[in-house]
Amino acid sequence: MKGIILAGGTGSRLYPLTKMTNKHLLPVYDKPMIYYLIETLINAGIKNIMIVSGRGHAGHFLELLGSGVDFGVHFTYEIQEEAGGIAQALSLAEDFVDGDSVTVILGDNIFQDCIKEEVRNSKDCAKIFLKEVTNAHSFGIAELKNETVIGIEEKTKVPRSNFAVTGLYIYDSDVFDVIKSLKPSGRGELEITDVNNYYINKGMMEYGVLEGFWSDAGTLDRFIKSKYTGTTAHTYYRFTE
Ligand code: DAU
Repeated sequence: MKGIILAGGTGSRLYPLTKMTNKHLLPVYDKPMIYYLIETLINAGIKNIMIVSGRGHAGHFLELLGSGVDFGVHFTYEIQEEAGGIAQALSLAEDFVDGDSVTVILGDNIFQDCIKEEVRNSKDCAKIFLKEVTNAHSFGIAELKNETVIGIEEKTKVPRSNFAVTGLYIYDSDVFDVIKSLKPSGRGELEITDVNNYYINKGMMEYGVLEGFWSDAGTLDRFIKSKYTGTTAHTYYRFTE
């Protein structure tokens, strides 16, 4: 199993903080945001990790993380030249994944849960991780029927449930062919929700519900909230290690 951290995009919603460095390197409590993601992958047993970053401040990732020796893992780096969407960023990892299965984590998502079992037991299909939220209109939302996900809608005004699709996904190696079949959305991006709906329509999507803390720190208020609740997240995190 390979691991991919998607840290592309522009970070414009966290401007001017992102004028000085990449969004995913900003501090959350006592460490850079990306450390939490790396630890989630390491705790899942994944040691071969690609970091896809945007072009802005890309060198900061190398300076901070190097080869991965400090973490006991191996890092590979890739540049997403333009923010063409989450699925477009993932497509850049095809050669790196090289027919393996892959765990993908969005660079601004912080998780408490450990997904070691899910990674170990992954099958030839896809898996998403849901979390019940109160601001469902801000996320991709899963519609459930008879304990099956029957569709995902991206940031809709009238969400069909309160189960957000978090930025943590497991895919089989077919995901790269799925991405090649996608067309850009209205906002000109290749959407990860379209990838997930493809698997759902084929009856090849599993899901889990997260029990622990989850935060998407992508907007300023959510970034501050993550920082604010950082102590709790950190304590929980150590607790689950
Ligand atoms: O946080 C969970 C949500 O993440 C999901 O519920 C949504 O279904 C999913 O689309 C995504 O929504 P966001 O609006 O939060 O995505 P955002 O554009 O903020 O991108 C999240 C991360 O993905 C970002 O920190 C870096 C990476 N990314 C994003 C884009 C657009 C890339 O690597 N390249 C990109 O082009």
